[in-house]
Amino acid sequence: MRWIDGLEGAAAEKLPEAVHRYFRQGSAAGVSVGEAVAAWSAYRFRPRVLNDVSSVDLKTTVLGVPVDAPILVAPSTMQRMADPDGEVAMARGVSAANSVLGVSSNAGTKFAELGATGVPWWLQIYVVRNRDITRRMLDAAVEAGARAIVLTVDTPVVGRKEDEGATVWDLVQPGQLLANLPAGDWTDDDLAKADDLNPDVIGWLAERTGLPIVVKGVLRGDDAKRCADAGARGIIVSNHGGRQLDGSISTARALPEVAEALGSNGVEVYVDGGIRRGEHILTALALGARAVCVGRPALWALTVDSAPGVTRLLTDLAEELAHTLRLSGHTSPSSLTADLITTITTP
Ligand code: FNR
Repeated sequence: MRWIDGLEGAAAEKLPEAVHRYFRQGSAAGVSVGEAVAAWSAYRFRPRVLNDVSSVDLKTTVLGVPVDAPILVAPSTMQRMADPDGEVAMARGVSAANSVLGVSSNAGTKFAELGATGVPWWLQIYVVRNRDITRRMLDAAVEAGARAIVLTVDTPVVGRKEDEGATVWDLVQPGQLLANLPAGDWTDDDLAKADDLNPDVIGWLAERTGLPIVVKGVLRGDDAKRCADAGARGIIVSNHGGRQLDGSISTARALPEVAEALGSNGVEVYVDGGIRRGEHILTALALGARAVCVGRPALWALTVDSAPGVTRLLTDLAEELAHTLRLSGHTSPSSLTADLITTITTP
């Protein structure tokens, strides 16, 4: 069996059942999480032939950061439930693959500790009602060397996970979560997600941090355009791994509309959700993504083999991408265009 296909099962044997369920589940009826992978596999290729594919180059940049391959790690919480070293092990794994790490604002590791690993990292932020909390987190991230701010916009309220039995929250130990919450006597209201945001928040974040702002959770061309007009330098097409509005369109389907709306105006487009194989990455790049991000596979890999597992996941996917690129008649992500793809059926 392909190593990546066995990862979730191997992780399930090591994780408490409630943690495994928390990682894998979607919100509500699980419609979006259930169709994410299939949506990528619903496209078909129109490969080129008689092209010299003897030498492949996957290297690219994301917001100016050089990476070995266009495959990044999406921000996710609870990494200390997967590995005792949590985000630090994830960072080491990503760093060894010369990729970029998204760090959740709920992470269980101090930003300074992550920065010290040397990995290029982007802070994912949820703006909360008490802006003082957000400001102080942003300042700490800048201080620790974050290269960009990823603003998650699909979470004005948290999607409901319909848990049965024990939940992951019963298992979290102090210090495993929210290690970067500034000290203070915060109320639930202070910490609640801000649900009154508009595109001006992009300028506010850029001004506060001096960093490029990437907006995560966009599924429509018109919203992507609003973000770009407000100064966003990147867009992550994402439905949060099916964990927010259930029934949201698959990212495989949303990507072409977003890429088309942004055109060639310099805003970088990324995509996450259900990316599991080289063919999925080939599809995403041809449809306009500059890079893809993986969420759950990185958590499974971290659980199974700590930092080396994460590195292997990224390098295996890169090898698969190189292989599929050659089969498609291409040698670099930069030569891919949407005419490589045709649609058979799309969930
Ligand atoms: C997430 N995701 C997420 N996103 C975010 O912006 N902030 C966060 O704190 C988290 N936390 C989180 C925890 C867990 C357990 C999962 C599975 C996901 C969403 C994540 O960044 C990404 O959008 C999806 O995981 C991508 O889909 P795949 O690759 O998991 O299918």
